Amino acid sequence: MKFSTFTLALLSASISAVAALPTELTNFLLVTTNQAEATSNTSNLKAVSATSLFDPYNQPALLLRLIGPGYGSLPNFTLSSGTLHTVAPGPHGIGTYEYNSTTVTAGQELQFLASTQTAGNLALSDGYLLTVDGEKEGWMICEGQLSSETLWWKSTNATGCEKTFLHAVKSAPY
Ligand SMILES: *[C@@H]1O[C@H](CO)[C@@H](O)[C@H](O)[C@H]1NC(C)=O
Ligand SMILES: *[C@@H]1O[C@H](CO)[C@@H](O)[C@H](O)[C@H]1NC(C)=O
Ligand SMILES: *[C@@H]1O[C@H](CO)[C@@H](O)[C@H](O)[C@H]1NC(C)=O
Ligand SMILES: *[C@@H]1O[C@H](CO)[C@@H](O)[C@H](O)[C@H]1NC(C)=O
Repeated sequence: MKFSTFTLALLSASISAVAALPTELTNFLLVTTNQAEATSNTSNLKAVSATSLFDPYNQPALLLRLIGPGYGSLPNFTLSSGTLHTVAPGPHGIGTYEYNSTTVTAGQELQFLASTQTAGNLALSDGYLLTVDGEKEGWMICEGQLSSETLWWKSTNATGCEKTFLHAVKSAPY
């Protein structure tokens, strides 16, 4: 088989065009860390923690909580129209659904519902830093039900919460 130089040039141009698209990080994990800057190795992020979905009692929304080493698997996410999407088991582990993040508002947890959401206000700044209405700062880790540490946006609970950043990453820190 013989390729002309022109064909090869076209081929490599289309390959790099694909690689340069922001959809490169289509499918990502979310981790919490004390630092806003990205690192090449997520294990080296300051005070890094992996996150997982959490199904609290008596409410339809799933939350995001911190999870230490020893987990089975981590949820992955995509972001479109200001909304995070992830696939998770339904109530009582029956079926699987595409969960979508609800509009993030001050004083509430980051929440996911198995229904269509239309008013998403999330984005990735520089392709990795999760923002709410364009703001990078405001995420907090708060002590919650069943001693879980869950993700909130601008909680007013000064004693039970600490500030954090949410990074979209390719690989788990541990
Ligand atoms: C990332 O850093 C951790 C801890 O510093 C190290 O154990 C691990 O091998 C590194 N991973 C890669 C892919 O370089
Ligand atoms: C993302 O998560 C889903 C559901 O757990 C899983 O089936 C899929 O393999 C994951 N994709 C990647 C790229 O990790
Ligand atoms: C989540 O949102 C997507 C895209 O808007 C939609 O296709 C999907 O049906 C929603 N999930 C559920 C369970 O309704
Ligand atoms: C603040 O957080 C602490 C620690 O989790 C909790 O005991 C307390 O009830 C919270 N206060 C409010 C007002 O939510």
